[in-house]
Amino acid sequence: MQFQLNEDHQLLREAAREFAKTLKAGVIERDEHAIFPTEFVKQMGELGFMGMMVETAYHGAGMDTLAYAIAIEEISKIDASAGVIMSAHNSLVLYGLQEFGTEEQKEKYLKPLASGQKLGAFALSEPEAGSDATSQHTTAIDKGDHYLINGTKNWITNGGNADIYLIIAQTHVEKAHRGINVFIVEKGMDGFTIGPKENKLGIRSSDTHSLLFSDVKVPKENRIGADGFGFKFAMKTLDGGRIGIAAQALGIAAGAYDLALAYSKERKTFGKPISEHQAIQFKLADMEVEIEAARLLTYKAAWLKDQGLPYSKEAAMAKLFASEVAMKTTVEAVQIHGGYGYVKEYHVERLMRDAKITQIYEGTSEIQRLVIARDILK
Ligand code: CAA
Ligand code: FAD
Repeated sequence: MQFQLNEDHQLLREAAREFAKTLKAGVIERDEHAIFPTEFVKQMGELGFMGMMVETAYHGAGMDTLAYAIAIEEISKIDASAGVIMSAHNSLVLYGLQEFGTEEQKEKYLKPLASGQKLGAFALSEPEAGSDATSQHTTAIDKGDHYLINGTKNWITNGGNADIYLIIAQTHVEKAHRGINVFIVEKGMDGFTIGPKENKLGIRSSDTHSLLFSDVKVPKENRIGADGFGFKFAMKTLDGGRIGIAAQALGIAAGAYDLALAYSKERKTFGKPISEHQAIQFKLADMEVEIEAARLLTYKAAWLKDQGLPYSKEAAMAKLFASEVAMKTTVEAVQIHGGYGYVKEYHVERLMRDAKITQIYEGTSEIQRLVIARDILK
């Protein structure tokens, strides 16, 4: 058993940490005004962060899932919105294209996505299909050489800024989830419109939109996998996606902890730094333990995926635990900052708002428990 990162992973952590420092200057303003970090996303592409696990032959960085988790962790310590932009693009769009796409699809779509020239979005959720993801109302009717897509997708990360969208839709309603397909849809296709940007509690500089489809004609060659593979595609994609969100949650928790630890050594009450009050020390001790446990679960899930071993349950465990730790740690980080924690300049209130979504998207905490329970009881 090896608990030390190898040299490549250590260097990668350093590189991600250096890049994350540059995110700090404008992070409060981007959050306040919900500004998408366009320039930074471009830089992330140049640095290889937007195609981390894609083979170099398809213009990716050819790294493993552990490297990917480390990079998201470091970036999310400073800017969790950048973390989710990267996570949705890498694990929800690129993974599936690389794993299940045809050579033509990889050539046309994977290459510009993996090099960061284009941005991707993944659309499974609908107004009435969130946790209950099999109950897809968006339809994709087979018209011979093309499909006709109609319906609405909800809450789509990168929804306004993406160029390429993976759209899950129902083709054979009588077959239930086995009749669902997944399609590559391009921004600008006739009948495809993007709804207004959601005004969110956290991760405010990532953009979230509904997507509307009215008789959108999608060529047959844009379907990924065999007819009816769409739901399995989504589930397999989300297994890996949950590692990305676990890493984002881990980063949020670790970022808040770093700030709380530093502040506790500076702030004095009753004639000594608050870090010398046992009540504060115990909070810091709990944070340290829980973050390390979240890190171990996240890295283990990533490692299992890299070994080609089953990782669905472990990804759900990592996402469940890390997101709960993110919420708890950020609340305590605000508490350690006292009144200063409640204002924007000290960053922890933003991290607390950002933490909440990690318990909701890519499967709520309740759904992670369901996935874990089904696995252990099967
Ligand atoms: N891998 C492969 N196949 C899987 C699978 C997995 N991990 N999990 C389920 N399946 C298959 C099952 O085998 C079954 O297929 P067969 O009948 O052919 O065997 C099929 O999927 C349906 O499975 P279930 O019967 O278990 O379906 P269910 O209705 O009980 O629901 C669920 C399963 C796990 C709750 C699923 O609906 C789910 O994951 N819900 C949460 C949805 C979610 O996470 N959405 C995230 C959207 S993306 C997002 O949020 C992005 C972002 O924030 C940035
Ligand atoms: P519901 O499914 O209606 O759940 C409501 C409550 O009931 C939750 O607490 C839930 O845990 C609980 N619940 C539901 N079913 C059960 C059950 N069987 N047992 C116990 N409890 C249950 N989706 C995408 O496809 N792509 C994206 O890029 C994307 N990005 C997102 C970004 C943001 C900011 C947000 C808010 C959402 C995003 N989503 C995205 C959607 C997200 O995945 C869903 O919101 C999430 O899966 C929950 O679905 P829901 O909102 O419909 O809640």
